[in-house]
Amino acid sequence: MHFPEKLNRKLTQRANQNALRELGKENNLIDFSSNDYLGFAKSEVIFDKTHQFLIDNNFKINGATGSRLLSGNHKLYATVEKQLAKLHNIETALIFNSGYDANIGFFASVPQRGDIILYDEFIHASIRDGIQLSNAKSFKFKHNGVKDLEKKILRFAQDDNSEIYVVTESIFSMDGDSPDLVMMSQIINKHPNVHLVVDEAHALGVFGFGLIQKLQLENAVFARIITFGKGLGCHGAAILGSEQLQQYLINFARSFIYTTGLSPHSLATIKIAYDELVISNSKKKLLQNIQHFITESNRLQLNFIESNSSIHCCIISGNERVKNIALQLQQKGFDIKPILSPTVPPHQERLRFCLHSYNSKEEITNVLENLATFV
Ligand SMILES: Cc1ncc(COP(=O)(O)O)c(C=O)c1O
Repeated sequence: MHFPEKLNRKLTQRANQNALRELGKENNLIDFSSNDYLGFAKSEVIFDKTHQFLIDNNFKINGATGSRLLSGNHKLYATVEKQLAKLHNIETALIFNSGYDANIGFFASVPQRGDIILYDEFIHASIRDGIQLSNAKSFKFKHNGVKDLEKKILRFAQDDNSEIYVVTESIFSMDGDSPDLVMMSQIINKHPNVHLVVDEAHALGVFGFGLIQKLQLENAVFARIITFGKGLGCHGAAILGSEQLQQYLINFARSFIYTTGLSPHSLATIKIAYDELVISNSKKKLLQNIQHFITESNRLQLNFIESNSSIHCCIISGNERVKNIALQLQQKGFDIKPILSPTVPPHQERLRFCLHSYNSKEEITNVLENLATFV
């Protein structure tokens, strides 16, 4: 079979940059890499309760059978969306098949031609892809740069015909840090045509129902994107917002409309994972582990990007060097992944540590002491 030469050249170029991507492999190493922050993906309690819930409610079907606008909107959607809206203290929750779908669906459909999107320069790829599909103009602002954002808002906010959408993450996926959401929302709320959109993928579960709720900013945010594949340990995502926003997305978000809905099993898992989140002790254990990691990395004078979340990154410039150190840590029994350019900008390559409720204090101290011998 002929494989186009242009594609082959791109693969060769990736390999020459030492940046060829590969599929992950299962391993028995100590987990400092997965997004299963609270151990919910591995929870037998959640697995068993989900199974029982489906049996008790006679949901003996494997698939949704169609788009949610056709045959796929089975009863469990209403149950779970109601649960989410209540727990997240918001009018409505609209479930998408994934965070990727939610972000491209939102950004491709909500900002209109003539509108402006202001996005943090480190924003997630799913939001960038959504912005690419949008007819609005987009401009980046400095990472967590509230001053830079304010300057840009003032530049565009005078135009009464433009709506401005500001998008950030409450916990950044590749840095683990946060913007000053209180200050950001104060600046934004001075202008009726400026709307704040926050991706809470890495905050949900780690900080209860997310940072926006922790900071009581629910009313200052136009839309929140929450995803269930990380702290909740399952699959899917939701956009939290007003009834009008929900109705708009049902009508115009193509990644919502033109796809098969989630299976009843997926919805039941989300429901049970939320029930568990309300009562679980894992959140407390995770926060203790995060504190222990910070204390130990300071003691060992390791240079991490400042973070209070479960993501902690140590910058190690160069794909080859960061891959090499990750490999040495893997050989010592720790599952640490190198993050290479072009996923992050050149010279910003890093080791990304994800902390979990089920990591022990000894494991954390151990991995950091090992790292200290390599950097
Ligand atoms: C910030 C952020 N938003 C959205 C997504 C996409 O979520 P999902 O994995 O559910 O597609 C991710 C996951 O990679 C993420 O890190």
